[in-house]
Amino acid sequence: MRGSLPISRRLVYKLRQVGNGTLGSAKIKVLILVCIALTILAISNRNRDGSSSFMGWTGDVDRSSSPRGRYSIVMNTWKRYDLLKKSISHYASCPRLDSVHIVWSEPDPPSDLLKRYLNHVVLLNSRKDQLVELVFDVNKEDSLNNRFKEIKDLKMDAVFSIDDDVIFPCSSVEFAFTVWQSAPDTMVGYVPRMHWVDQKKGNDKYKYGGWWSVWWTGTYSMVLSKAAFFHKKYLKLYTDEMPATIKEYITKNRNCEDIAMSFLVANATSSPPIWVKGKIFEAGSTGISSLGGHGERRTECVNKFVDEFGRMPLLPTNMKAVDSRNSWFW
Ligand SMILES: *[C@@H]1O[C@H](CO)[C@@H](O)[C@H](O)[C@H]1NC(C)=O
Repeated sequence: MRGSLPISRRLVYKLRQVGNGTLGSAKIKVLILVCIALTILAISNRNRDGSSSFMGWTGDVDRSSSPRGRYSIVMNTWKRYDLLKKSISHYASCPRLDSVHIVWSEPDPPSDLLKRYLNHVVLLNSRKDQLVELVFDVNKEDSLNNRFKEIKDLKMDAVFSIDDDVIFPCSSVEFAFTVWQSAPDTMVGYVPRMHWVDQKKGNDKYKYGGWWSVWWTGTYSMVLSKAAFFHKKYLKLYTDEMPATIKEYITKNRNCEDIAMSFLVANATSSPPIWVKGKIFEAGSTGISSLGGHGERRTECVNKFVDEFGRMPLLPTNMKAVDSRNSWFW
């Protein structure tokens, strides 16, 4: 009956023999423990400070002196000084920040007290190796177009456009900046939105798709300028080339400057933006998007801008960039 043992049982028997012969169960336990310890060591090394340094593999290349090596923050703010103070003091600590421009559209200029406070926190929180410049861009007119006014003395090519109530950890900002560096003509951001063809109204009518539809379909065609990187040349393009009717519409309705910027970049590049994964760790929840009727107003903007541009420049995509250091399987 020797040959009649079923194959699987023979295999188990053999494996057991191998196990007994070369590694006792105590040895296996030790091996497993060593594996766990090495894994923990590797993880703690990877996640420290967002930069990996393990056996001399740092992954950092110093490009800080080139115009692509650092970035400028352009922050839009409106009468929320506590939020402004909080976000400026946070972002000042992020590596590779060159300067901060606060877009000021209030009737009264910023107070000396506020200026002194912000200069102080920037000095206090910025890294030893970086001198961050803080500038108020004071505007006479109150308009959402102000946030895209050309800034003449920007040393760096990259603009990180952000609202005063959105805070991302420095590691997320760093990652989005890295993505932008590999596609400097593209808009790179954390908040994707979509335009849908409104078939009830005809093939050239569109509906604005909020986060719900993007989440459901994984498709987007815009990233909002409340948190996005783009090349500074688009500020000039917006200032010089954006049709006056669109700018007037934005000033009057106090909405949709972000959609207009998405149109402008898509029209110039004929390619979609890039959505990057990022943790938001704080947000003021009083934005207009939480009010009713927001979707209809945004839809109106999309259709109005299509008329002005003479076509729909936005292109849908499904790509999402993630930090490979934080993803285990590929
Ligand atoms: C859109 O792109 C076309 C073709 O490149 C260009 O002629 C036009 O000026 C652009 N429109 C705007 C508003 O930038």
